[in-house]
Amino acid sequence: MTNTLITGGAGFIGSHVIKLFVKDKSYNVFNLDSLTYAGSLNNIEGLEKEENYTFIKGDICDKKLVSSLFKKYNFNYVINIAAESHVDRSIETPTLFAETNVLGTLNLLENFRRHYIQKKDKKVFYQISTDEVYGSIENGLFHEKSPYRPNSPYSASKASSDHFVRAYYKTYGLPTIISNCSNNYGPNQFPEKLIPLCIISIINNREIPIYGDGNYTRDWLYVEDHAQSIKLILEKGKIGQTYNVGGNNEIDNIEIVHKIISIVDDKLSRPKGTSLRLIKHVKDRKGHDRRYAIDSSKIKKELKWKPTHTFQDGIKKTIDWYFDNEKWLKKITDKKDN
Ligand SMILES: NC(=O)c1ccc[n+]([C@@H]2O[C@H](COP(=O)([O-])OP(=O)(O)OC[C@H]3O[C@@H](n4cnc5c(N)ncnc54)[C@H](O)[C@@H]3O)[C@@H](O)[C@H]2O)c1
Repeated sequence: MTNTLITGGAGFIGSHVIKLFVKDKSYNVFNLDSLTYAGSLNNIEGLEKEENYTFIKGDICDKKLVSSLFKKYNFNYVINIAAESHVDRSIETPTLFAETNVLGTLNLLENFRRHYIQKKDKKVFYQISTDEVYGSIENGLFHEKSPYRPNSPYSASKASSDHFVRAYYKTYGLPTIISNCSNNYGPNQFPEKLIPLCIISIINNREIPIYGDGNYTRDWLYVEDHAQSIKLILEKGKIGQTYNVGGNNEIDNIEIVHKIISIVDDKLSRPKGTSLRLIKHVKDRKGHDRRYAIDSSKIKKELKWKPTHTFQDGIKKTIDWYFDNEKWLKKITDKKDN
């Protein structure tokens, strides 16, 4: 069994990735997560029974802890998913984003470097990143060679950690891979992000805050499709490469809100369009990127990956999940579970 450290495995994307890897008994999975407001043991309930799974509550910035884990388990694979992930929070507390996203990644890289024996070890350090590092694009698509032009403290911190990963590949010859993915949606997403915030606001008849005119375009990918791509990239991706991962689903924020209103109103047997009155255009986010759009032809061509959910399917599944998981919502927002 290969010892695999996955960080941030109690968060939104991490919880789906952890479940996928634990299902495959050739991996011995270690989940290192500090359980911030966004992480919850409820996201990974039931996994503690699995023999090939260990949860470690801890911070990726903690030098003593991370060093002791590398010494003890000599990880073959490191998949770094832990991060501060919300752009609005990064505008309020940029230093926290630099600490976790940059210094935390560096701490993991340093330990990986210390335990790597060139030409002998089959190891990979895999960094999970975002398409937001490329900045905003008016026309066309971001591809793997697009320049990094981050505009928010969040994307700047992710860009910086990606640069360190690349530098460790170039400078020390460490086997690293990076993937940059578009916006994810699906179960377990903390309700500060657009889609869950919108679903929950409609259910509770609360205002749905929309930044500016709402004509901000993102590419959307169902989270399980992202998780599948991560496993595939780890297993089949080429060392030193970057892979863009996207859903081919470019949609404006305001259009998403309209779609969700239509589905949720229908589920609640409210007359069509009832919740449109909840939309409230609020002052725009500082430095708001207009459009992200990603070209994922490389992973499709080289690794034969393709998303299995259309936006229509994925959004219905997501809405159903939030309807069926009121307890989860209460626990994560009250933070009584950790
Ligand atoms: N959500 C998206 O749409 C999206 C898209 C592309 C890439 N990404 C990237 O994927 C990763 C996960 O995003 P997410 O949306 O699941 O985030 P999330 O905020 O839901 O989860 C982050 C997890 O990391 C943990 N964590 C935070 N700081 C930590 C620290 N210092 N030490 C240990 N654990 C810590 C949290 O407890 C939480 O469980 C991030 O790196 C993000 O940049 C996210």
